[in-house]
Amino acid sequence: MNFEKQIVCIGAGYVGGPTMAMIAVKCPRYKVTVVDINSARIAAWNSNALPIYEPGLDALVQNTRGTNLFFSTAIEQEIQAADIIFVSVNTPTKTFGHGAGRAADLQFWEKTARQILLHATNNKIVVEKSTLPVRTAEAMERILNQNTKNIRFEVVSNPEFLAEGTAIADLESPDRVLIGSQETPDGFKARQAIVDIYAHWVPRDRIIEANVWSAELSKLTANAFLAQRISSINAISALCERTEADVTEVAAAIGKDTRIGTQFLRAGVGFGGSCFKKDILNLVYICQSYGLTEIAEYWESVIRINEWQERRFVRTMLENMFNTIAGKKIALLGFAFKADTGDTRESPAIVIARSLLEEHADVVISDPKALDNAREDLKDVPTAISFETDPYRATDGAHAVALLTDWQVYRDLDYERIFQYMEQPAFLFDGRNVLDHKKLFNLGFNVFAIGKAPLKHF
Ligand code: UDX
Ligand code: UDX
Repeated sequence: MNFEKQIVCIGAGYVGGPTMAMIAVKCPRYKVTVVDINSARIAAWNSNALPIYEPGLDALVQNTRGTNLFFSTAIEQEIQAADIIFVSVNTPTKTFGHGAGRAADLQFWEKTARQILLHATNNKIVVEKSTLPVRTAEAMERILNQNTKNIRFEVVSNPEFLAEGTAIADLESPDRVLIGSQETPDGFKARQAIVDIYAHWVPRDRIIEANVWSAELSKLTANAFLAQRISSINAISALCERTEADVTEVAAAIGKDTRIGTQFLRAGVGFGGSCFKKDILNLVYICQSYGLTEIAEYWESVIRINEWQERRFVRTMLENMFNTIAGKKIALLGFAFKADTGDTRESPAIVIARSLLEEHADVVISDPKALDNAREDLKDVPTAISFETDPYRATDGAHAVALLTDWQVYRDLDYERIFQYMEQPAFLFDGRNVLDHKKLFNLGFNVFAIGKAPLKHF
C-alpha cells in the first residue's frame, strides 16, 4: 500500500506506544512505526502480551498492527524513511554532575538527535514528545542543522498530556493538543504538518498553536499546577485530622466553586508517577538558573509537602500501632502509583514500604498489575518482604492493612472475611480515602483515613 506519509516514533514507552497506536487508528493513510533500542520491548509490542498495561490499548494495537502500525528495532532504516519523527525517549532527572537531582538528563535525547542526523538523507520534521526543559528544541535544532548534508530539520514541540490508566480516552478526546514551532515560514509549515495529523480526529478549536518555548513551558507548568493542587489538599488534610474537619467534605465544598473546580482534590498518600516530580524539579532548576531563587523555592515546596505526606502516613501507622511494628505483618494493598496501571515509578508505595521495612515490619505487597515492577523496585531489600497477588492471602494474619492504590478491586473486597483472618486489634489505613470507613469500623476495624478523624475502638 502507498502511504501518504511515514511517521516514526523513537521510544516505545508509556507515551510513544499508546500515542502512535491512536495516530495509526485515526490516520489510516499514514504509516506509523515505533522504534526502540530495547529489542525485548519491541518484541513485546509485537506479541499478545504488550509491555505496558493500559485499558483499551490491546484493542487499538490489534486493529492496526501489521496494517499501518509497526514496531521495529531497525532505527536507522526507519529514520531514513520517515517524513516526521516523534521523539519519546525518557528524560529522567540527572543523577550526576551539575544540576544533579534537579535538571533533566538529556543524554538520551541528544543521542537520539545525533542518531537522526547520522541516518537522515532528506528534510525531516522532528517532534519533541518527551518533556524537556524550555529551549531544548532550540539546542536540538542547532545540533541537527549543523550538518554538511544539506538537510533541513524543523523541531516542533508537541508535549503529551495523557495520564496513565486513562491514556486511550485522553488520546481519543484530549482537552487540547499543543503544537509549538518556530515562527518562520518553514516552522509554520512543520507546525501545519503536525496539526494535520491531529485534525483527523481532534476538533480544530482544541488544537492550540504556540511558539516553541511556550509549548515546552506549558507542559512543565501543567504538571506543576496539577501536583500543586494535590500538595495543597494534602496540606489541608493534616489540618483536618487535628481539627476533626473532614477533607472530603472540604474538597467537595471548595470544588463546587467553578473557579477552583472538582478535579485533583483527592487527598491521599501523595502523588507519584514518572512526570510530576521530575517536571517540577526541572522547573525548579530552570528558575534557579535564571536567578529566580524565590520562585524555585515556591515550586520545590510542592515536592516537600508530598514527601512529608508520605512520611506522615507511616508515622500515623506507627503511632497508632503502639509505637512498634517490628515483626508485625502489614499488608499493602496496591503498589502502582495510581489505579489502572502497572507503573510504579515514583509511587508513594515505594517510600512507604521501605519505611515500614526499616521499622522491621513484615511487609506483604499486593497489586493486580504492578508486582513485577514492585519486585524490581525493592530488589535490594534483604529483609522480610513478600509479594502476593491474592488480597485475601496477603491480608491473612496481618496486624494492619494499608490501602495505597485506588484500584476498584480493593473497594469491592469482602472486608468482613479479611477482618476475621487478621490479628486483633485489626488496623486499616486507607491512604486513598476510597473505602466505607463507618462500615469498616462497625465490622471491628480501627480505621485511619487521610484528613479524617480516626475511628478507634480503644
Ligand atoms: C517518556 C519520558 O520519560 C517523558 O518525559 C515524556 O513526557 C514522555 O516520554 P515514557 O514513555 O513513560 O515517558 O518513558 P519510557 O516508558 O521509559 O519509554 C522510553 C523508551 O525510550 C524506552 O522504551 C527506551 O528503551 C527508549 N529509548 C531510550 C530509546 O529508544 N533510545 C534511547 O536512546 C533512549
Ligand atoms: C500526569 C498528568 O496528569 C498528565 O497530564 C501528564 O502528561 C503526565 O503526568 P500521570 O502521572 O499518568 O499523569 O497521572 P495522574 O493521574 O496525573 O496522577 C498522578 C499522581 O497524583 C498519582 O499518584 C495519583 O494517585 C495522584 N493524585 C491524583 C492524587 O493523589 N490526588 C488527586 O486528586 C489526583
